[in-house]
Amino acid sequence: MNNYIVNVNKRKSQISKHIYGHFSEHLGRCIYEGIWVGQDSNIPNKNGYRTDVLEALKKMKLPVLRWPGGCFADEYHWKDGIGPVETRKKMINTNWGGVVEDNSFGTHEFMGLCEEIGCEPYINGNLGSGTVQEMAEWVEYMTFDGVSPMAKLREQNGRKEPWAVKYFGIGNENWGCGGNMRAEYYADEYRRYQSYVKNYSNNKIYKIACGPSDHNYEWMDVLMKNATQFMDGISLHYYTVPGTWEKKGSATNFDTEEYYRTLSKTMYMDELITKHSAIMDKYDKEKRVGLLVDEWGTWFDVEPGTNPGFLFQQNTMRDALVAGLNLNIFNKHSDRVHMANIAQLVNVLQAVILTEGDKMILTPTYHVFDMFSVHQESTLVDSFIDSTMIGPDDWKINDLHESASIDADGKVHVTICNADESNSKDINGIFNGFNAKTSVAKVVTGAMNAHNTFENSNAVCVKDLAVSITDNGFKVTVPPCSVTRITFE
Ligand code: AHR
Repeated sequence: MNNYIVNVNKRKSQISKHIYGHFSEHLGRCIYEGIWVGQDSNIPNKNGYRTDVLEALKKMKLPVLRWPGGCFADEYHWKDGIGPVETRKKMINTNWGGVVEDNSFGTHEFMGLCEEIGCEPYINGNLGSGTVQEMAEWVEYMTFDGVSPMAKLREQNGRKEPWAVKYFGIGNENWGCGGNMRAEYYADEYRRYQSYVKNYSNNKIYKIACGPSDHNYEWMDVLMKNATQFMDGISLHYYTVPGTWEKKGSATNFDTEEYYRTLSKTMYMDELITKHSAIMDKYDKEKRVGLLVDEWGTWFDVEPGTNPGFLFQQNTMRDALVAGLNLNIFNKHSDRVHMANIAQLVNVLQAVILTEGDKMILTPTYHVFDMFSVHQESTLVDSFIDSTMIGPDDWKINDLHESASIDADGKVHVTICNADESNSKDINGIFNGFNAKTSVAKVVTGAMNAHNTFENSNAVCVKDLAVSITDNGFKVTVPPCSVTRITFE
């Protein structure tokens, strides 16, 4: 029996809904086909957006969506993507497969998507190959509601009202695909570009600096030292790659050793956030600046026979565990982590949705996001679960992982991952400061490589789980390889 203490009387930080954010890049079949099919498509759509995908994203309560990249962002020139579609420039997508980007999905189409879903836009500007003027004018185009050249252009293109844009990234991975800059150089460039990212009318921009990848603590230190006062947030990228970058490993065909290696590498996120936060604390004791993990998730070898530049991969119960582990970590660090964006929304890397022609499936990762959405804007509470180390010698991890929150209606939500691939776990929940009367539990479980296909779309789905309420808490048995959510009232 594993004791699980939930101290509802010890309230911590608010869990920003933006921790449950996503990322959509002009990469492979994410935007084109995955989201946007155009109004003339045979695939059912609303104003060009796939209806099935829109419905699934609304149900999952997608709070914020990052666009247009990724590496694509630092080659994207936004003026190529506005005006009559027939006259928009065609360009090469040099990062992702060298395919033609016809710019038929641009600013108006992206902002329309966010309006349809009811999520906030997070726009990533081009610092690597764009000009200061270009970035400044994009913000003016989207947000100014007076008399100006860009506001006039927006109106000519059919949109009189400005959009509300809060989140604006100033470059992406500028230590790599975004210009191969040194931290000191980028810090100065960041300071210059952000000076011209203006707040127009009532729109207040939350400026996001390009932060480090993985354990590049020096980059974080240089940026915080030189630019803290000019930023509201700074990004962190960390992907779970079970093998090497040359041979990452299959998305579906893996053994137990690789399963635990993947989960163990995922847990590195906790150390990264802790150490990067400690550096941020040196320069920002009040924790004003948010750490935005705006790219995370699994990165495997592409599915056999697919374009290597399209990063299309399947998604199994192992991915569900990776999602659950990361989301619990982000919840626990919500005093500093203000946003996170899994890569990527549809058909790319650890996607919540996969499509093939007019067919769509929800992945195990989707079900985790759907279940965990109850934590959005809830208050984290202090909690601790007994656990045992499991897995092969080099890749040992704790079997049980959790986080708990209380929402505005007084409901308590706990989310538990059982990483043990073959054993269920009996849990004895103990509440301090809460008297549970009813409970509803949901679980996603299956063999470690179980996944949904276009032929069998419900192999992995959300099921009910039995819970019993006790005098001081609850008892539940979580199945092997599972992610569980329990709501108590
Ligand atoms: O998500 C795929 C790519 O990974 C992004 O374009 C880039 O920012 C990162 O290296």
